Amino acid sequence: MAIPRETVEQILQAAHIEEVVGEFVTLKKRGSNLWGNCPFHNEKTPSFSVNPARNIFKCFGCGKAGDSAKFLMEHEHFTYPEALRYLAKKYNIKIEEKQQTPEEIMQQSIREKMFNINEFADKYFVDTLWNTDEGKTIGLEYFRERGYFDPIIEKFHLGYSPAKWDAFTTHAKQNGYADELLEQIGFSIKGQKGLYDRYHGRVMFPIHNLTGRVIGFGGRILTNDKKSPKYQNSPESEIYDKKQTLYGIYFAKNAIARQDECILVEGYFDVLRMHQIGIENVVASSGTSLTMEQIRLVKRYTKNITMLYDGDAAGQHAALRGTDMILSEGMNVRVVLLPPEHDPDTFGKEFSVEYVSNYLKENAKDFIRFKTELLLKDAENDPVKRGQVIRDIVESISVIPDSIFRITYVKECSRLLDMPEQTLTNELNKILRAKLKKTLGIEDNVAPETDTTTSPKQEETVEDQLPAGYYQERELVKLLLMYGGELFVDDRKDENGEIVYEQVSVAQYIIDELKQDGFLFTNVVNRKIFDIFDHALDEGRIPNDQFFVSHEDETIAERAADLLSTPYKLDQWEKYSIFVKREENMLRSVVKSSVARYREIIVDDRCKAIEEELKTTEDLDDQFILLKRKKDLDDMRKQINDELGIVITK
Ligand code: UTP
Ligand code: MN
Repeated sequence: MAIPRETVEQILQAAHIEEVVGEFVTLKKRGSNLWGNCPFHNEKTPSFSVNPARNIFKCFGCGKAGDSAKFLMEHEHFTYPEALRYLAKKYNIKIEEKQQTPEEIMQQSIREKMFNINEFADKYFVDTLWNTDEGKTIGLEYFRERGYFDPIIEKFHLGYSPAKWDAFTTHAKQNGYADELLEQIGFSIKGQKGLYDRYHGRVMFPIHNLTGRVIGFGGRILTNDKKSPKYQNSPESEIYDKKQTLYGIYFAKNAIARQDECILVEGYFDVLRMHQIGIENVVASSGTSLTMEQIRLVKRYTKNITMLYDGDAAGQHAALRGTDMILSEGMNVRVVLLPPEHDPDTFGKEFSVEYVSNYLKENAKDFIRFKTELLLKDAENDPVKRGQVIRDIVESISVIPDSIFRITYVKECSRLLDMPEQTLTNELNKILRAKLKKTLGIEDNVAPETDTTTSPKQEETVEDQLPAGYYQERELVKLLLMYGGELFVDDRKDENGEIVYEQVSVAQYIIDELKQDGFLFTNVVNRKIFDIFDHALDEGRIPNDQFFVSHEDETIAERAADLLSTPYKLDQWEKYSIFVKREENMLRSVVKSSVARYREIIVDDRCKAIEEELKTTEDLDDQFILLKRKKDLDDMRKQINDELGIVITK
């Protein structure tokens, strides 16, 4: 149920970051912040800071930052609503659940009905397996014959659905469940003679969500009927979204967090087998290719995924498909291939747990090694294919968010491919530059990159490719976030050259100045923050730092927490502000010079671009237009110089 926006704000305001964090981390005061060892990465000297004034935390080691809710989500693996409820309880705030609309109530009751019938079915299949003759001699016998012991059959609620074509449907209808629901959730299929059981004559695997509720089923056939698929699975429904589900996550999540590793297998039986031999940090993608949602589900518990796939070609390529997605989430991925005749189920049946654990340890290949070896085998001595392999691998490296890891992988790759590191680095930089441009959302007011056709110079780094004014833009956003609502007296000349004095907020000043020149931020996240201020000012409001730190758009919340965590020079001045007047002067001069510097850089950058263009423009009319634009920019430049001169000498 949704928590009303006002209550969310109330909760986040009441939450004291140092108290929330303090329950999990030992903090010591140093200066205006508190410090401790970061709970998100291993360290001996504290780089994890808590800023009570801004109500945020930030680790200068691993970069994690945010408000109380964010901390709980990271540390306790809570969802956002769970974090809010935790805080509400801690601070005695009553959550008035929002009045639900009739549609929401309908929706809610459909979901409830679905959970309800799944639970009913789960009981029925389990009961049939253990307590009926057919269940015992066919279903239970099947599991036992494959080498499964009773405790594991019980733990996973394995069941049996009778061979009679409508046994469950009839049982459910007798218990008041409607035909429509039975069809919707997939237990029954409409045939010529009425509804019949989707799973008749199959052994049953209930599929649980994170909290242990049954959201769907898989049923395995027991005959050799080639016309019927080996597994029948529940269709998707209001409660079953296949791309968000991993089989076994409910039983594995604690082990995954504890061991800081998740083993990913393909099938239901693979999960069962691993659990039976005592390896419990295992989930299955259930035969479909891995999705981003599934990866994020795992990421709540660990950043390390080991893929344990069949040794055959299909298994190898299935493993390959998932790796880039995992890497792009900043997670580590390793691959273990089994001997070709095995899958994890048969492997775990044949060998002892010691042997299996050892095999996993010794055969886990870092993805880059796995991919390189696999692809090179296909390419052998074909130079064209080899080139493709290299690009393919560098492409994989480029999705890794952390640059240190990228460099490590380039080194490793250069060794494996027997290729100079520099060649790979150049290739990598080419891809990164293209991506950077895209993610920075570079728009019109950035000079076009000169000559992208030739290969980049070797010493060029990604930093060189940052759009003009990148750092100045960050400074301005920081000022907006920290001091947006503060007032200062601005003096400027009106149309007649007379000096007028006017009280203005920092936000108003910055936004107005930039809009006047059309210098809107180039970075997409900065631009979002800019737009929020712009709209709020139109309505006579100025949002404060907490608004951004707790913003529902995660990119905004992250940027705000990040920028707010590095103290601005003014923080020091605040401390010594014996004269209020003087502080206001400081604020004015910092804001005005920051704006002027930003404008200066953008103007210079545009001038340069025009000069370049002039060199290659032959048409006189075009030249004239360019020169006119250049003149406007030069005028602007002069005015900026004046401004800089004034604010600096003051
Ligand atoms: P597998 O064919 O490897 O099956 O498919 P398995 O789990 O090893 O089963 P056994 O050992 O042959 O009894 C892997 C997974 O793909 C999905 C299932 O989730 C299965 O566990 N699958 C497979 C289906 O959904 N439908 C199918 O027809 C086949
Ligand atoms: Mn199998």
